[in-house]
Amino acid sequence: MNPLEHLVVQAQADFAAAADAAALENAKAKYLGKTKDQIETVLNVRRAAMADAQMQARLNAEAIDVTLPGRGRSKGGIHPVMRTWERIEQIFGSIGFDVADGPEIENDWTNFTALNSPENHPARSMQDTFYIDGNDTLGKPLLLRTHTSPMQVRYARMNQPPIKVIAPGRTYRVDSDATHSPMFHQVEGLWIDENISFADLKGVYLNFVRAFFETDDLQVRFRPSYFPFTEPSAEIDIAFGSGVLKGRWLEVSGAGQVHPVVLRNMGIDPEKYIGFAFGSGLERLTMLRYGINDLRLFYEGDLRFLKQFN
Ligand code: FA5
Ligand code: MG
Repeated sequence: MNPLEHLVVQAQADFAAAADAAALENAKAKYLGKTKDQIETVLNVRRAAMADAQMQARLNAEAIDVTLPGRGRSKGGIHPVMRTWERIEQIFGSIGFDVADGPEIENDWTNFTALNSPENHPARSMQDTFYIDGNDTLGKPLLLRTHTSPMQVRYARMNQPPIKVIAPGRTYRVDSDATHSPMFHQVEGLWIDENISFADLKGVYLNFVRAFFETDDLQVRFRPSYFPFTEPSAEIDIAFGSGVLKGRWLEVSGAGQVHPVVLRNMGIDPEKYIGFAFGSGLERLTMLRYGINDLRLFYEGDLRFLKQFN
């Protein structure tokens, strides 16, 4: 009889001798508790020893060459539109404009009503809006802001004139073609003071684009236009200086004198103060800077395209 068979016979005898259930459980613990634990312990000791030996053998076989070069990590780069954003903040910062940040989820009062576009006003349909289910705490419908102009109102309600501020950020519209994408970036500019004129706005904007494009040799035009929140209003076009679209005009911005109704909504007296504002597209400025003919390229995530900017 081998030791295991012996153990089984012994267990059988002990179990037979047990008079009740409690005695039987005691007898069981003698064999399945202690004996099992001891066997598992020696088994695990052996397993660990084998694993160590295997690891040691592998380390001896594949000697590590510490002189090998490391695996290089490729460097990321700043997205061209983000670079435009940084340049804009830098240029306007250098002429004394503050930088403000505002919410991308807006209510329809700040996005439209305060900007002199009442409910059902046809000018609201100039911008095809992504509405969001639900209302804000005051019961106003929520939406993804269609432009950065609500920041004019938010900022001016919190700050006293004179005001010089830019507010760059993401904006959203139901739009998609070579010059429109559903998510895009604008920078709002607002300047409120006592004795400024459209000529000041024009001067500041021309200085900005000359600094931005690093050339005085630019074709820029202010074209009469309409916005409910400015009067008079203009749109600003710049001609491509390079690329397949060289010489073709591209609209980059809306601009104008802040409407008295909007100044009142800001809590500012339109008899005392005059305001000028603009709202420019960052993708459009980036297209012009690099001679790119389709802004959807910025958002396709194709590294062959994006790598060219670093
Ligand atoms: C506006 O959004 C006005 N809020 C601008 C404004 C501000 C006027 C202050 C007066 C005073 P508009 O819809 O034209 O205007 O858009 C302004 C700029 O945003 C355009 O010139 C263009 O450069 C850019 N833009 C508009 N829609 C898109 C889009 N879907 N994709 C990319 N860029 C866009
Ligand atoms: Mg426009």
